[in-house]
Amino acid sequence: MDSLLVKGGVPLHGDVTISGAKNAALPIMAATLLTAEPCVIRRVPNLSDIRFMGQILTSLGADVRFDGNTVTIQAAKIKGVGDYELIRKMRGSICILGPLLGRLRKAIVSLPGGCVIGARPIDLHLKGMAALGAKIKIAEGYVHVNARKLKGADMFLGGRAGPTVLGTGNVIMAAVLAEGVTIIESAACEPEVTDLANFLNAMGAKISGMGGPTITITGVESLHGAEHEVIPDRIEAATFAIAAAATNGEVTLHGARMDHLHAVADKLREAGVVIERRGSAIKVKRGSCLKPVDVTTMPYSGFPTDVQAQIMALLTLAPGISIITERIFESRFMHVSELARLGADIAIEGPSAIIKGGKPLSGAPIMASDLRASAALVIAGLAARGATQVNRVYHIDRGYENIDGKLRKLGARVERVEGI
Ligand code: EPZ
Repeated sequence: MDSLLVKGGVPLHGDVTISGAKNAALPIMAATLLTAEPCVIRRVPNLSDIRFMGQILTSLGADVRFDGNTVTIQAAKIKGVGDYELIRKMRGSICILGPLLGRLRKAIVSLPGGCVIGARPIDLHLKGMAALGAKIKIAEGYVHVNARKLKGADMFLGGRAGPTVLGTGNVIMAAVLAEGVTIIESAACEPEVTDLANFLNAMGAKISGMGGPTITITGVESLHGAEHEVIPDRIEAATFAIAAAATNGEVTLHGARMDHLHAVADKLREAGVVIERRGSAIKVKRGSCLKPVDVTTMPYSGFPTDVQAQIMALLTLAPGISIITERIFESRFMHVSELARLGADIAIEGPSAIIKGGKPLSGAPIMASDLRASAALVIAGLAARGATQVNRVYHIDRGYENIDGKLRKLGARVERVEGI
């Protein structure tokens, strides 16, 4: 397995272009199952999760062609049974359920398991589909959904931790071809859901209210092919902003959208980081010194759980006590023990991590456990004295396009070491 060898202590300087958002591109690719006509999606990041979604769509019968950051998909004739092994491997693949139900009125898809960050149930996805009239059965590891007719309905999709991002997307994708009007209350407000709804509208759907907690979908007879450019990845942008601050550098982010980054920018400013708009770009540099801050993860427009690990890496460098509370995923603290190997002082108390920051970090071999944890470990390695070897780097390749190349362009000493 490949690893990244990071030689720390070099401030990052220069310009970086933010790629398209993985978490928008995945459901948008799945949405192409809703039409027999070709769809062209641009600014698709070149990531293992994206190629994986391509394989899943191919296994369902779609023609999927990648050309750089553009993917053309035509799902002329598809089947409704997903390959068990393929789908089981990636949690995000659950978003094929809604479009298959919408187009074919039936789908059989393997249940995504829990993962290292938490249990990850799909009860809210199924609640929404049941409200549209689908019959649901779980047997032998598969979820079977089918409906003779889908009928628009009013539903509430809030759960224990608030709305569900992929659940909202899935139910929207089933409802676009239902008869009548669907109203989703407590819908996820994440920009990735808005991007999906915009793509569906370009395909002929009638969706309004996206970006807010009430989304209204008026069903249509059929959808047609469309072209779309995926939004920039706000999590990648936040990761590079934090890496710049952690290394005491100065980095300009191109293509990132400030309107998607308010909660992150607000916390970083409170921590002493300077963030300025420069035309269409965002400039980030560390201020005179880092300050401890308290962070609680929340659904959008709150602080994203997908940036919790990275800001923790930064706060290990801020003298004083910071408290990070994780409210979305119960086990999303796997990076804590690895940060401790670099010298960080972090204690976990229930859903909170208490960080006594300010001690210098020093390099060590560490193990990535999930996508965002890996990004945090790379940031910590960039800020540490000496060499840090981040093992199991395939996690980072799931969600960051060419991260080592982009970091090297900013002056970082990062090498990919091929493993066996
Ligand atoms: C999406 O996952 C993202 N994945 C995650 O990104 C992200 O962390 C998460 O949203 C939250 O922002 C993709 O978009 C592919 P949720 P999703 O349903 O939609 C509970 C990354 O690093 N819940 O919004 O699966 C759930 O347990 C990743 O890129 C239910 O209770 O997350 C959690 O506590 C990892 N029942 C909360 O809701 C359900 O049916 C939010 O989960 C569904 C979810």
